[in-house]
Amino acid sequence: MDTIVDTSAFLGKFLYYFLESVIYKVIPKKKKDVAGEIVLITGAGSGIGRLMALHFASLGAILVLWDINEEGNMETCRLAKEKGGVKVFVYTCDCGNRQEVYRVADQVKREVGDVNILINNAGIVSGKYFLDIPDHMVEKSFLVNVMSHIWTYKSFLPAMLKANRGHLVCISSVAGKIGTSGLVDYCASKFAAYGLAEALFYELTLTKKTNIKTTIVCPFFIGTGMFAGCVTKYPLLLPVLDQNYVAQTIVNGILKDEVFIVIPKFVNFALILKEIISPKMNLALAKYLGMETFMANFIGRHPENKERSD
Ligand SMILES: NC(=O)c1ccc[n+]([C@@H]2O[C@H](COP(=O)([O-])OP(=O)(O)OC[C@H]3O[C@@H](n4cnc5c(N)ncnc54)[C@H](O)[C@@H]3O)[C@@H](O)[C@H]2O)c1
Repeated sequence: MDTIVDTSAFLGKFLYYFLESVIYKVIPKKKKDVAGEIVLITGAGSGIGRLMALHFASLGAILVLWDINEEGNMETCRLAKEKGGVKVFVYTCDCGNRQEVYRVADQVKREVGDVNILINNAGIVSGKYFLDIPDHMVEKSFLVNVMSHIWTYKSFLPAMLKANRGHLVCISSVAGKIGTSGLVDYCASKFAAYGLAEALFYELTLTKKTNIKTTIVCPFFIGTGMFAGCVTKYPLLLPVLDQNYVAQTIVNGILKDEVFIVIPKFVNFALILKEIISPKMNLALAKYLGMETFMANFIGRHPENKERSD
């Protein structure tokens, strides 16, 4: 009897939430107000970290900017302040160093207050084929791309739990959903970041029943310079994304409390397909899309890589 009641309730909810999601496709969700909210962005010194900071500055948020690159971070601060009346706090922090994250997080709590929106965005890529990646670079990828998320969550989640409000954002990647040739260490760390954020979403929402929001972002290649040199085989079908478009899409998603953001949206179709077609069909699709050559001319942020690709 219990099973019948349980199953009926589940099917009712399932149908209700399905209709709700269809309605939200037609009538956009209301955006939340972040004026006066404390928004911490790691990796704010360039790329989408900087652009997201500028969007939040326009919305009246209090910015806490972390980066290992002091100069880049100061430039983001300068650009944000140009928006007028914006409070910006800048911290140099190696997010791959646990002690440093805990130390700077304590400083933020003392000097600024409890973080309301935490955006784990700092990231690095070695861009080498698996056996060419020195061990220390594999470790560094994991430290920056995923372990830093654990330490920042541990630092800022307790206050969010106490207030029963807050928002955790994980910038993963399409490479955190689809293993990609030439990106073995990067994919492994981004899959881990995705898994961590998804598991936390269920724990905070289902088990602990909190009101804390989580967002996981999976973009395709973005023209920030992180993947400089990489080309896609069919730029019309799969173009390198414009960084302003990506930053705007992420900020809009955060304001609407979206849980999963894949950019561009149609990549969702590839994610479903990947799970249901055979490995040989997947290989044929990967070859068609040019996966084997995505990373062939990778330079990234390290000009010395150019020697390898010439
Ligand atoms: N560029 C892309 O194609 C792409 C695609 C999907 C996902 N992403 C992800 O988006 C995020 C932002 O990437 P981006 O394209 O803006 O790259 P970016 O190189 O412009 O920005 C990354 C920032 O992280 C900072 N950083 C690196 N190591 C750090 C450390 N140890 N501690 C603190 N800060 C550190 C850098 O100084 C830099 O400012 C990354 O997590 C990246 O993996 C990028």
